[in-house]
Amino acid sequence: MQLNIAVLDGDGIGPEVVAQSIKCLRSVEDTFGHSFTFRKAAVGATAIKKYNTALPDKTLKVCKDSDAILFGAIGAPEYDGDPKAKIWPEQGLLKLRKELGLFANIRPVKVFPALVKQSPLAKSVVQNTDLVIYRELSGGIYYGDKNIDHKANSATDTCTYTESEISRIAHLAFKAAKARRKKLTLVDKANVLETSRLWRRTVLEIAKSYPEVTLNALFIDNAAVQMILNPTQFDVILTDNMFGDILSDQGSVIAGSIGLLPSASVGNEYAMFEPIHGSYPNAKGSNIANPVASILSVAMLLQHFKMDEESDAVIAAVLKSFSKKIVTPDIMGSSKYGTNYVGDFIADNIMELDGSFNMNDENIGLGNSTII
Ligand code: IPM
Ligand code: MG
Repeated sequence: MQLNIAVLDGDGIGPEVVAQSIKCLRSVEDTFGHSFTFRKAAVGATAIKKYNTALPDKTLKVCKDSDAILFGAIGAPEYDGDPKAKIWPEQGLLKLRKELGLFANIRPVKVFPALVKQSPLAKSVVQNTDLVIYRELSGGIYYGDKNIDHKANSATDTCTYTESEISRIAHLAFKAAKARRKKLTLVDKANVLETSRLWRRTVLEIAKSYPEVTLNALFIDNAAVQMILNPTQFDVILTDNMFGDILSDQGSVIAGSIGLLPSASVGNEYAMFEPIHGSYPNAKGSNIANPVASILSVAMLLQHFKMDEESDAVIAAVLKSFSKKIVTPDIMGSSKYGTNYVGDFIADNIMELDGSFNMNDENIGLGNSTII
């Protein structure tokens, strides 16, 4: 297969982790006989410094001319401390999602057997967790009318959803549940918010077309608790933009490190693949960032293009890195391996599989550590 991939490194550790993903894609090319071309473009703080905008038109064009986008990370501390700034890095990502119509953000949360001790939660609670969050990505409070009145010292963010915005992601989530364990949990705040009541009405109606899927609904506050108390009860979680942002970061605690969680953002025309973690500015250039979230995002990219064997090969190589303890210090505090070494190891171990590959096969424990 021939794919043109736009590469948006972004800020902080973005360039370092994406470099490992490109190594893995090169290895997939060699092993399976594909042809991938990469085009880099600027976004975030890096783009602001050069072009005075977080998303230059040229970057948007590169993305629109590509089959897929590989995204690193966004954000820089100098902007976080300045609430009066007119331009800031995250605007680049938000505009990109909107312009490309990326309405569904798919965030799997899986506890790898080898890393089960990584989670600060008890092994008995987190083991076998395998859930996926379908987060609405191009609407809600992120994109509603905003206003700040400095004189009155008041500010407004409006949350708006239309039925069609809800229904297009709901169908994707129901289809995913149908192909998995057939359970869908809608997370909302329908006891307070009108938008949530619209979500509930719309999703209950759509559920009639998926009789094989069991639907339940939880309020976000209860869902946050349930996810920590008993994460294995969940299969597919469907939720809005803001609740999905928060719940997916919480999911990374279950998995043991935010450096492990990948994501795919899809729409009708474009697809972007990015780790859920931020730009981790303190680690920039130190060769300690975990490249696995970015590499697993590559596995999602390959799956998106129906390259299942290739995707399994990437995942198998990642699992091998866990079992050989070729991991970054967030996974094993005493590890002497850096971002580059782990990336090289995974890329070198991508090879054809016999099709009987099973993600739960390996079961070797690693030590305790810190979380990015
Ligand atoms: C994410 C991030 C972004 C979001 C930020 C960087 C704007 O937290 O992808 O989860 O809030 O969507
Ligand atoms: Mg987030």
